[in-house]
Amino acid sequence: MSSTAASINLADIDQTLSTQSPQEILRYALENHDNIAVSFSGAEDVVLIDMAHKIRPDIKVFSLDTGRLHAETYQFIEKVRKHYNIAIDIVMPESAAVEALVRNKGLFSFYDGDHKECCGIRKIAPLRKQLLTVDAWITGQRRDQSPGTRAAVPVIQDDKAFARENDRLTKYNPLANWTSQQVWDYIRANNVPYNTLHERGFISIGCEPCTRPTGPGQHEREGRWWWEEATKKECGLHAVNIER
Ligand code: ADX
Ligand code: SF4
Repeated sequence: MSSTAASINLADIDQTLSTQSPQEILRYALENHDNIAVSFSGAEDVVLIDMAHKIRPDIKVFSLDTGRLHAETYQFIEKVRKHYNIAIDIVMPESAAVEALVRNKGLFSFYDGDHKECCGIRKIAPLRKQLLTVDAWITGQRRDQSPGTRAAVPVIQDDKAFARENDRLTKYNPLANWTSQQVWDYIRANNVPYNTLHERGFISIGCEPCTRPTGPGQHEREGRWWWEEATKKECGLHAVNIER
């Protein structure tokens, strides 16, 4: 199949899946891919783990440990591991690359300008390595999470940014059409574990030095890389959002 035919095909599937619930989208994803994993860091991702676990109890899950996460986030990952009795692959960055970065630019180089270099080493390279091991991945992206970059996130897409050469990687965003309210209603109704930082004003949680709580009236994305302009607030994990 040519890549154009493949994308047209996925666009059709996306139209159909977009009218379905996250559970139905996940069922479709799991029926179509044996080798698929949930990319886990936040509240949305545990909702997906909870739903996927009910379909496939040994659902594959990975989390990128940048080395700069909050202590609460590590506790949260552990809570999720025990709650669902699942293995979680903790993916680390290359130590030589981190060592070179901090030797040359210090431990807080991201505050001096672009956070892309640090994110590239601590998140993107490890994600690229991890995605070589699967045929499809599932993320917790929502359209209303970041108006500048995620407003058109589809439910299913061809992930050309991380696909192996001459191969296809499918990316699922089953919560694309859900609001934050729906995520939290699900969490409460199903006793889903969450990061205790949410009780202290944090909404969107990433690395500790690059995340802060948001106040009333602020968009959740304003708590991330707050010293940079809104258009730059993607670290590259979801490069297809920007390249389209
Ligand atoms: S980010 O690109 O700005 O950091 P965000 O925090 O909004 O992403 O999360 C969006 C989705 O990206 C999550 O639902 C999750 O699927 C994935 N993700 C983000 N950070 C990580 C991480 N550290 N490990 C694994 N997946 C992650
Ligand atoms: Fe580095 Fe901040 Fe990106 Fe984390 S979010 S990888 S600390 S720049």
